[in-house]
Amino acid sequence: MTAIRSVVLGCGSYLPERVLTNAELAARIDTSDDWIVQRTGIRERHIAADDEFTSHLAIKAAQAALADAGIDAQSIDLIVLATSTPDNTFPATAVAVQHALGINHGVAFDLQAVCSGFVFALTTADNFLRAGTHKRALVIGAETFSRILDWNDRGTCVLFGDGAGAVVLEAQPHAGTTADRGVLTTHLRSDGRHKAKLFVDGGPGSTKTVGHLRMEGREVFKHAVGMITDVIVDAFNATGFTAEDITWFIPHQANKRIIDASAHKLHIAPQKVVLTVDKHGNTSAASIPLALAVAVKDGRVKKGDLVLFEAMGGGFTWGSALVRW
Ligand code: UT7
Repeated sequence: MTAIRSVVLGCGSYLPERVLTNAELAARIDTSDDWIVQRTGIRERHIAADDEFTSHLAIKAAQAALADAGIDAQSIDLIVLATSTPDNTFPATAVAVQHALGINHGVAFDLQAVCSGFVFALTTADNFLRAGTHKRALVIGAETFSRILDWNDRGTCVLFGDGAGAVVLEAQPHAGTTADRGVLTTHLRSDGRHKAKLFVDGGPGSTKTVGHLRMEGREVFKHAVGMITDVIVDAFNATGFTAEDITWFIPHQANKRIIDASAHKLHIAPQKVVLTVDKHGNTSAASIPLALAVAVKDGRVKKGDLVLFEAMGGGFTWGSALVRW
């Protein structure tokens, strides 16, 4: 039996130059480096310049991913960009990326699943490629959450940062076994009963404003580990793999305590966990491809490795993806 697999050809990322440390935040609001580090693991985050938009971060990440893949942008026929902080209400930020890359064929669109956005976008692109309608995809997570933070709300403003990451996927024929390279399985979930626990209090269709991020942090925390581990068990059940088989666990980087608790519950060894939350904060849809790019660049992730992604965020939305690199 042969199957089409979405194989990763390359990845790349971009972080804005400006680094905002916990100490700087502590000078502005009632918080401390100690509190932030102990409760979240975050030490610093990057903040986009005023004239640096989500599309600008996405374009740089996409260019880095194309260079890493060693392919021409013209061979891309699908761009799926996950963001909750688009440049404009419309058009999609993805078409700005498409235009900047000089591509005027194929299709580019945005997808919004907040912090789960990258796993949702990867799944969407994988389905397009496996359906045979498209051949090469750019999957991007790009965010400027600094624009939707209430900088007086210490419960949220210390948590988030800006950045972008991207992967290039190619449809390739494979044997159709779990030994294949590429995306092996994906599992997405959502449950709108929790929509008021993490939301933005504005929007074009309601307040006609952009609004600010609001979160019942403790409530989100309470659900996170259970939801994350559920979809990872789904990935294990679908493939027959166990925690022992995983080479690298690259989770959404929201809070080190959530990541540690999830890995512990699943019996994933701590040395297999890729952590960037200390340096990036929570960059929502960008956090997984940002962490991935770090682990690929420093030589940890190698061809043939089994890489597990997971994310959970507003909606709630949550999901997992298992990829053989
Ligand atoms: O990516 C999308 C998913 N989002 C998440 O996964 C976030 C999930 N939630 C969390 O990560 C954690 O709930 C937080 C990091 C947001 C908060 O940690 P926590 O351990 O749940 O703290 P808490 O909200 O229970 O607050 C404990 C105390 C409170 O004071 P009192 O009521 O005990 O006097 C807060 O007012 O900490 C206080 N607090 C702060 N203190 C210093 C809240 N924010 C801060 C702060 N600095 N920045």
